[in-house]
This record gives sequence, structure tokens and C-alpha cells, in this order.
Amino acid sequence: MRAQIAAANWKMNLTLKQGEELLDAIISQPTQLQSHQSAVFAIPFPYLTMAQQKLSGKYQYFVAAQNCHNKKSGAYTGETSVEMLQSLGVNYVVLGHSERREYFLESNQFLAEKLDICLANGMHPIFCCGEPLQIREANTQNEFVAKQLEESLYHLSADEVQKVVIAYEPIWAIGTGKTASSAQAQEMHASIRSSLAGKYGDEVAAKISILYGGSVKAANAVELFAQPDVDGGLVGGASLLADEFVAIIKALK
Ligand code: PGA
Repeated sequence: MRAQIAAANWKMNLTLKQGEELLDAIISQPTQLQSHQSAVFAIPFPYLTMAQQKLSGKYQYFVAAQNCHNKKSGAYTGETSVEMLQSLGVNYVVLGHSERREYFLESNQFLAEKLDICLANGMHPIFCCGEPLQIREANTQNEFVAKQLEESLYHLSADEVQKVVIAYEPIWAIGTGKTASSAQAQEMHASIRSSLAGKYGDEVAAKISILYGGSVKAANAVELFAQPDVDGGLVGGASLLADEFVAIIKALK
């Protein structure tokens, strides 16, 4: 079975103490993951070491950064390189979240460079895509997302692209409490998989995990994750609540 992933995105929330308490509360609850399932925690840079220590030894639990730079090293004040993350033992990174695209002007081309440096160094990227409300209202979301994939991903080889996890996050559903219906999520995920199949063939497309993000919570995770092309979720608000996120992990197929 394809990898099924519950990914927490803490964004710019919590103090160190609050973060420690949240992870303690999550890992103290019994959740037995299978080898095709994982829980990934994308947390703020200053807490990565703390999280690595807390989660080390917990089967199929991983720490992710929320961003990394597209250059190896050098005079890029305030930025964090892939090598730095890996020196902490962090091997996952979220790329191209809509908040980074909007507030930090990250383009599809810039994200293509970030994907390259990650893949060249064995870092697992969780690549975010998704349309704003006006695109959904114009019913051109499939083309919009396909273009994001084309411009950021489709220069990759078939071997490389299989190492990318895609997170489809419709912007109108992020932090709004307005979740895409499971039918809307399935339709877009199938469209993404069909675009991947057009470029790389069915066999490769079938191996790529596609997460849904946008107001995922315990109450809707089971139905969303039950969709055949939905391979888990990228979760913001609900990942800050231990019981909610544990229930989301348990909703994985
Ligand atoms: P949300 O955020 O779950 O709070 O909607 C999801 C995300 O931005 O990754």
C-alpha cells in the first residue's frame, strides 16, 4: 500500500514548553502505526532538536522542518539549509505551503530549486499545492494545480518524483473551518494522480502519496482518508490539540 501520512503543521505557534507538552501528550497515547503509516511533525526551527529527541525511537514518527533554503550554504541571513536540518537528523521538509507562497512570494520555479536540493541530498519533501477561492469559483482548479505540478515537479526524473509527497491544500479551506468535501478532495486527488500518470505513467503515479490539507480534524479525517486517492492529511489547527491529532493519526488507512 502507498505510504499513508498524518502530518502536523504547527506553523508559527507554541512556546518551547507548550511544544514539549503537546508532543508528550501525543506520544503518551497508544497509537500503533503500521509500516506503511507515519506521523510527521512539521514544527518551528528552534524546536527541531527537542522534537527529534522526544520522537526518536517512536516507530514511524518523524520530525519535519516547515521550510528550507534553495542554496547549499552561504550569505543568506536568516535562512536554513538542507545540510543544517540533516545535521539535526531531520529528513522531512514542507515546501511551498500557500502561506509561504503568499507572504514570502515563493514561486513555482523557486520551489523547483528547493525540491532539487532536497532530492539531491536525500531529504523528503512534502510539496504543497492548491488553488485560491476565485479559481475554485471559476472551476479551473484542476488546471491551476496541474500547472503548479508542471512548473515545480515535472523536471524531476521518475525516480526522484516518487520521493515527493504531495499535499493538496485548497487555500479557501486552510484555517477557515471550511473543509473540502470528501468528494471534492477525491476529485482533485484523482486529477493530480492523472496528471502525474500523464507525465510519468500509471505505475509511478500510483506510488505517490497525496495528502489533503485544509481544516482536517478528528471529525472529518476518517471520511477524507477513506477516499481512494487521499493518503492522509496535512493538518494545521487540529494538530495543536493532542487528542485531535491522535485521532487523526488513528484515521489513517
Ligand atoms: P488547517 O491548516 O488545518 O488549520 O486548515 C492546514 C495547513 O495549512 O497545512
